[in-house]
Amino acid sequence: MSALPPGPAEAPAIQTARWLLRPIAFMESCRRRFGGMFSVRFLGFERPMVMLSDPEAIRALYTAHEHGLPPGRSIALLPVLGPGSVLLLEGREHLARRKLMLPPFHGERMRSYETTVREVTERELDGWSEGSPFAIHPRMQAVTLEVILRAVFGVTDPARAERLRERLPLLLSDTSSPALQFRVLLSRRLGLGGDPFDGVGELLREIDELLLAEIAERRADSDSTHPAEREDILSLLIAARFEDGAEMSDREVRDQLVTLLLAGHETTATALAWTFDLLLRNPATLTRLTSEIDAGEDTYLRAVISESLRLRPVVPLAGRRLASDLDVNGLSLPAGTDVTPAIWLTHTRAEEYPEPYAFRPERFLEQSPTTYGWVPFGGGIRRCLGAAFAEMEMRVVLEAVLQRRALSPASTHAERVTRRNVTFSPRRGTLVRSRRRNAPAPAVEPERVLVA
Ligand code: HEM
Repeated sequence: MSALPPGPAEAPAIQTARWLLRPIAFMESCRRRFGGMFSVRFLGFERPMVMLSDPEAIRALYTAHEHGLPPGRSIALLPVLGPGSVLLLEGREHLARRKLMLPPFHGERMRSYETTVREVTERELDGWSEGSPFAIHPRMQAVTLEVILRAVFGVTDPARAERLRERLPLLLSDTSSPALQFRVLLSRRLGLGGDPFDGVGELLREIDELLLAEIAERRADSDSTHPAEREDILSLLIAARFEDGAEMSDREVRDQLVTLLLAGHETTATALAWTFDLLLRNPATLTRLTSEIDAGEDTYLRAVISESLRLRPVVPLAGRRLASDLDVNGLSLPAGTDVTPAIWLTHTRAEEYPEPYAFRPERFLEQSPTTYGWVPFGGGIRRCLGAAFAEMEMRVVLEAVLQRRALSPASTHAERVTRRNVTFSPRRGTLVRSRRRNAPAPAVEPERVLVA
């Protein structure tokens, strides 16, 4: 039977407001009322969107490769990422770019980036205050940005690196501001207001100039008789060839660089901030993790990361627009429908995860995450290209921090989830106090929040 599952009857404006303001409460209430699969209606979308959470339904969605992307991704990101972006292309064009970009992101290659991540983290730790409270999320943003500049872009010219270090965070904050997202919704969906990206045009042009100069230099070097040996992802992208032997144009390489920045920076920083938050609220786990790291073991560390990505998935949705009818749970969802795993709901199913709201890394010592019941990186042919990179980065940062620092919570309240662009983020950035390990405890300071 071709039909959509039931869902809340409120007007789209109300459902949109609930989704924007209290997304988790909204999804949980839908699950209580309608079960694991339901239809929601959002402002500006002609048809309802179906959210599902049963791993078998997610398997059905992700293993049928013909489904495309919901248009929302392009609407919000095209002006910044550009038309060549692997995140936005579809069908054969998407697959060709994905194949070309996969080798530099392959799990085994990640070792070569570990040293960079460790160096960046250690330099960051030098600037941490002794005992005063500060928000750790912005510090993790600084780390993941620097890692991208060095491991992905490989910028060596100090003046260019400095300008990018200055300009890129502006682009990231300008394009993720709720005000811009709202203007995009008004302009693209409802035809109201001017071009919402007008304000970032100048900044984008400046960044493009810097990136294109870097790309040109790298090409000149790779064509020279003695090319420098480089392992950064930009160099690998320049050397890579499509199946027909063609290379990516400069403009397209630029699009992939900005895509990797936007897809990989905020997500990884947020996942790290959540992991610290969960560890601080669960001191026994933090103690066990620290002693396993001291003993040179990484099994528990990997379980901590899997559990953190389960309990605090950073990206809430990773949907598809159906190219053909999809049979799930006795319903045939019609072609053209936008269908998405509600990742938070998938990860808190008591069937798969006993005590689903408890932070228990031990569950992943007994059993590895399953492909469709643990989907922080989406799935199928669009699964996150940087998943191995992100997990490596999280491992190395956590290790480097916990080897050198003893952390304690600087707030008695657990962090609430808030939305930042496409991510679910800790509302106050996770407030911590840090002391050098084995250093004597400092005298208690007055509560002063340093948001660096
Ligand atoms: C914890 C950190 C991260 C999380 C939670 C995350 C999550 C995701 C999700 C949910 C998707 C959509 C998948 C789908 O539609 O099925 C995605 C796509 C993508 N991610 Fe990540 N990501 C992270 C880090 C990274 C990093 C570090 C990079 C690169 C440096 C990266 C690059 C990409 C790219 C290129 C895509 C598009 C893949 C495609 O459409 O074929 N991500 N990511």
